[in-house]
Amino acid sequence: MNILENDIEKILISKEEINSIENAMAAQISDDYADKNLLLLCILKGSVVFFSDLMRKITLPMQIDFMKVTSYGKGSTSTGNVRILLDLHREDFSAVDVLIVEDIIDSGRTLSTLVEYLKMKGCRSVKTCTLLDKPARREVEFTPDYTGKIIPDEFVVGFGLDYAEKYRELPYVGILKPSVYTKEDNPD
Ligand code: PRP
Repeated sequence: MNILENDIEKILISKEEINSIENAMAAQISDDYADKNLLLLCILKGSVVFFSDLMRKITLPMQIDFMKVTSYGKGSTSTGNVRILLDLHREDFSAVDVLIVEDIIDSGRTLSTLVEYLKMKGCRSVKTCTLLDKPARREVEFTPDYTGKIIPDEFVVGFGLDYAEKYRELPYVGILKPSVYTKEDNPD
């Protein structure tokens, strides 16, 4: 057992449930993109676990690529834009149907900005899928095209999601014990 599991209050979504969520989503995407030119786009780092499952479960030829973005002033509510740390470079934007893969949507800023950005680049189509959606945290209106599970406003980690860059490797989505992030010596 990973010692970090001691910090988990409870498992919110088991690996079995995640597996069945992924199977259903991958089947739907495989139907919907059968006549398209799928580019599956991973938004680093959080979505990497979900992404690597999804790309193996979708039964279509595809290309994959990666972007890394961060919200300005993440953790505050005052700013709107996202900063691109790793961009998508292609010569054939107009030939690809991009499906952005996220682990979670909170404020909605990352995905709403990315969708506009990729449309502006000239992609033939841009859609979004997310494993988790936390609508209670929304600051801009945004509805993903494919949603794995709507979750309450809890501090979740695991399956790619981190707290202070830890817990990403846990094989389920768990709720973090509040004592972990309310410690006095915590820099965050
Ligand atoms: C998380 C998550 C999304 C974004 C969602 O990434 O992976 O990209 O936040 O939040 P939003 O809806 O409020 O924009 P984060 O910036 O924590 O980086 P990480 O994926 O590297 O952990």
